[in-house]
Amino acid sequence: MRYKINRMIGIFDSGTGGLSVFREVRKLLPEERYIYYSDNANCPYGEKSKEYITERARAISSFLIGQGADIIVVACNTATAAAISTLREEFPINFIGMEPAVKPAAQKTRTGVVGVLATAGTLKASKYIDTREKWAQDVKIVEHIGQGFVELVENGILTGPEAENVVERSVRPLIEAGSDTIVLGCTHYPFLADTIMKVAGRPITLIDPAPAVARHLLEVMEQNGLIRKDGFSMSLNSSGDSTTLEYTYNNLV
Ligand code: DGL
Repeated sequence: MRYKINRMIGIFDSGTGGLSVFREVRKLLPEERYIYYSDNANCPYGEKSKEYITERARAISSFLIGQGADIIVVACNTATAAAISTLREEFPINFIGMEPAVKPAAQKTRTGVVGVLATAGTLKASKYIDTREKWAQDVKIVEHIGQGFVELVENGILTGPEAENVVERSVRPLIEAGSDTIVLGCTHYPFLADTIMKVAGRPITLIDPAPAVARHLLEVMEQNGLIRKDGFSMSLNSSGDSTTLEYTYNNLV
């Protein structure tokens, strides 16, 4: 089979939140080519219907495949919950979705109380409810919509009094309920991690599923022979007072 040099990994989200997944993916797959679609015109997805989000996910996936994507990361919990099964049925490529990280959180908590922050769409989806029922039987789960979080991140307001006020309203109830571990169930929320920790006021563990999603992507790419073998690899060599950048072009087929 001839290797397609223009192939790439597609990633999409309602906005910039998916970049919290992209940064983990790129650590594991630095030589890949990427195309990122941020659906800003229709952000946020959180309160929109399953049908609407499925339609957006379908249109974006079709666009990304047209651009050369042969695997797509749905870097959005809300879109994963609403649409990933439809995408898998309709398109002949692999889709990697976000998993609410309830299982690692349930294993980690010492107080036995796990907080989950996510959008309304994610919290009411059967995918999340099934995960919670499967992995969180022995712990108490308290949930809260991260009200206004997506808007903060889209506006680049990640710290400071305004961010703290907004974040406090959703995080305080989780802390008061005894949570020592909080699942970040929306890809925008990791960008507010410092503010979440600050308003929590005591040590808590935040669980971001992005590194696990990146590892899963790597596995699926390995299984399907999609790891790039034709790209430039770059290495930085330092000796004495000189530094050289070496580009190696390998295995072009
Ligand atoms: N970043 C998305 C998620 O993971 C969507 C947030 C939104 O658009 O409401 O759920």
